[in-house]
Amino acid sequence: MSTITIDGHRIDVLFSETEIAKRITVLAAEIAALKPHKLLVIPILKGSFIFAADLIRAMHHAGLSPEVDFMILASYRAAQTSSGKVDVLRDIESMVEGRDVLLVDDILESGRTLAFAKDLLSARRANSVRSCVLLDKPGHLAANIKADFSGFDCPDLFVVGYGMDMSHQFRELPFVGHVVT
Ligand code: IMP
Ligand code: MG
Repeated sequence: MSTITIDGHRIDVLFSETEIAKRITVLAAEIAALKPHKLLVIPILKGSFIFAADLIRAMHHAGLSPEVDFMILASYRAAQTSSGKVDVLRDIESMVEGRDVLLVDDILESGRTLAFAKDLLSARRANSVRSCVLLDKPGHLAANIKADFSGFDCPDLFVVGYGMDMSHQFRELPFVGHVVT
């Protein structure tokens, strides 16, 4: 495993840039195979912004022409665990009725964030609401939800990079890593 040091923090690389790029090509092909109707992709910000940017471009190469709109959700966390309450800080502007919606998020952990978003969009009469997450973290599921598309199974560690932060740091890393010290 490779390790890098940033600002005095040692970070183990868990998923490299190359691995992520390869996996995203496969995910985009799987999504395209569903032949979605009036596809609306909704990245759940902030953590998913880099994943979503790469996934959306891969979707173009896979022959899709999605619309994209953004939702900012805050799931409150004491320290590094999710507390359960989800708030909408920014809602989408698009109409969802009758459309196939794809939610994009960085990590599925308790599942509360995605379950909340899925209920919200289903209530607005989307034709379907599916989800694509980069990482699936096992063992913490509190909501009854499973990602329809998932990049990697994630070890039960707090991870950063590729859009994900620890106290607003490390979003810029082009890989997914674990802060060791
Ligand atoms: P859930 O609602 O518990 O599924 O929480 C998922 C959200 O928590 C993700 O969208 C992330 O923003 C955040 N999260 C969970 N685990 C991690 C982690 O290891 N690193 C960074 N963010 C995390
Ligand atoms: Mg998030």
